[in-house]
Amino acid sequence: PITRKFDFTVQPLSLTRICNTKSIISMNGMFPGPTLYANEGDRILVNVTNRGQYNISIHWHGIRQILSAWADGPAYITQCPIQTGQSYMYNFTITKQSGTLFWHAHETWLRGTVYGAIVIYPQKSYPFTFSNEEHVILLGEWWKANVEDVETSALQNGTGPAIADAYTINGLPGPLYNCSSTDTYLLKVKPKRTYLLRIVNAALNSELFFTVAKHTLTVVEIDGDYTKPFNTTTILLTPGQSTNVLINSDQPIGRYYMGASPYMSAVNVPFQTVPTLAIFEYDTAPASTPPTMPTFPRSNDTNSTTQFVGSLRSLNDPQHLETIPQTVDKNLFFTVGLGLKPCDANRTCQGPNGKNFTASVNNISLILPHIALLQSYYFNISNVFTRDFPDKTLNPFAYTSNPPNNLTPIQGTKLDVIPFNSNVQIVLQDTSLVGAENHPIHLHGFSFYIVGQGFGDFNAGSANFNLVDPPRRNTIGVPVGGWAAIRFKADNPGVWYMHCHLEIHTTWGLAMAFIVQNGVGSNQTLPPPPPDLPRC
Ligand code: C2O
Repeated sequence: PITRKFDFTVQPLSLTRICNTKSIISMNGMFPGPTLYANEGDRILVNVTNRGQYNISIHWHGIRQILSAWADGPAYITQCPIQTGQSYMYNFTITKQSGTLFWHAHETWLRGTVYGAIVIYPQKSYPFTFSNEEHVILLGEWWKANVEDVETSALQNGTGPAIADAYTINGLPGPLYNCSSTDTYLLKVKPKRTYLLRIVNAALNSELFFTVAKHTLTVVEIDGDYTKPFNTTTILLTPGQSTNVLINSDQPIGRYYMGASPYMSAVNVPFQTVPTLAIFEYDTAPASTPPTMPTFPRSNDTNSTTQFVGSLRSLNDPQHLETIPQTVDKNLFFTVGLGLKPCDANRTCQGPNGKNFTASVNNISLILPHIALLQSYYFNISNVFTRDFPDKTLNPFAYTSNPPNNLTPIQGTKLDVIPFNSNVQIVLQDTSLVGAENHPIHLHGFSFYIVGQGFGDFNAGSANFNLVDPPRRNTIGVPVGGWAAIRFKADNPGVWYMHCHLEIHTTWGLAMAFIVQNGVGSNQTLPPPPPDLPRC
C-alpha cells in the first residue's frame, strides 16, 4: 500500500451534446471526470479545489471510510460545502475493499455532470479469470437545461417529471439521438478474449438496463463485492449501483451495439424512452458493418428485474460468512415513499390536486441543516438536529393498498442513534401513498447484506431470510410496492447518510441519517476533523 495524491479541480466546461451547447460544471475539465485508480490498502489524498460558481462537495460512493467520516463528503451531513475559491483535502484509506465504485458531487444536483469511476485493485487475486483487459462503462444522463435549474423547479414547483434529454455511455448519447452519431462510445475488442466491464449507473434519476447484442454477461461483482458468477443477457443498475461483468468476444467478427434503456417501475411518471447505444467492435470488423441491435426489456418489466436481483448471491468465502449478522441488536422498520404537501403561496404546484410532491422516511421529510451534522455532533453544537428519529413508522397502515388520508409528512432533522458495533437490521417498506415506486436506497459508510425482499407489505412471520449467502451492496432497489431487509454491523463511528439515490426523491426529503457512536479505544473512536474542513 502506498499514498496516492490526486488534484481535482471543479471548473466550468463548455460541451455540446444532442445539438445543444452549454456550460457544465466538470472535474478537471473532463466529462465524465477522471477515473481514480488505486490498490486495496492505499491511502488516498484528493485535493479538491472549487473553481466553479456553485458550492460543492465530493462523495466517494461505496468507500467505507473507516474512522474517516470527515472525508465522506455529503454536503451538510459530514461537511459544509467547499465554497468557490476554497479547497479541501479528502484523506482516507481503502480498507479491506476493492472493485468498481464511483465518486460524485454531493451537493444539490451537481452530480449530474460531476462524476467519475473509482477502480480498486484487490490485494488477493480475482476469484475469476479474464484476459487482463478491462473497461469502465459509466452510464449517465444529459440534460439540456442546467441541472441546478431542474432541481429548483422540482423543489419549488413540485414538478413531478424531471426528464433527462438523453442517457449516455461514458458521456456520449449515441446514434439514436439527434446529432449524436459521432458522439458514440466505441469499445474495440479482439476475438476470443474475456473482458472485464466495470459498469456504473451514475444517472441522477434513471434506473437502467444494460445489455450487449448477442453476447452473454457473467456477473461477478456488485457494488465492490464478489458474487457467485451467473450468466445473463441483461443487467439492471439503479443509480448508485455498479456491476462488474465478464464478456467473451466469442461471436462472429462484427460490430454489436451495447446499450442502456430505462427501467421505470412507477406508473404515470414520464421518462426518457430512447436508449443510449455504444459500439462493441471486433477490431478486424470493417467499420462499415452496421452494428447488430440488442433487445432491451420493456421499461416496466418488473419481472426481469425481480429475476435478475433474485439471482445475486455473495461469494461466501469464509471471510464473508463471519460478517453476515446472524442476530439483530437494533431492529428498524422504515417506510420509504412519496407524499404530497400543500403548495406554498404564490406558486403553481404541479403535483396531483395542485399540491407539491414531497418524500419521506417513516413520514419524516429531511430538512438539511445549515451546519453539517457531523460537525454539530462532534462539537456538541445544539439546535441543529434532534435524536428522535423513530425506529418504527409513526402510524402503521396498509403500505401497499389503502393509504391513510393524510399524505403530508412531518419536516425535520432527526437522527437515529446506534451504539457502536450493533448488528442493525432495517426493513425498508415502499409505500403507495402517491403510487408505488422502486426506491434505490443508498447507505453511506457501510455495505449491507440484503437478507430478504418481496412484494406487498412486510410480514415478519412469513418473510424468508437468507443468512447464508445474501448479496452485499451499498445501494438496494427496494422493490416497487414491496420491501427489502438489510443487515450490517455498525462498526464505524460517524454520522452516516441514508437516502434514495433518485436525486429528485432526495430533493423532496427521502433521506435520513444515523449517528454511529464511538466504541472504546482509538481504533473505535472518530478522530478530530482535519484543519481544512470547510466551515459553513
Ligand atoms: Cu452516491 Cu449519498 O450518494
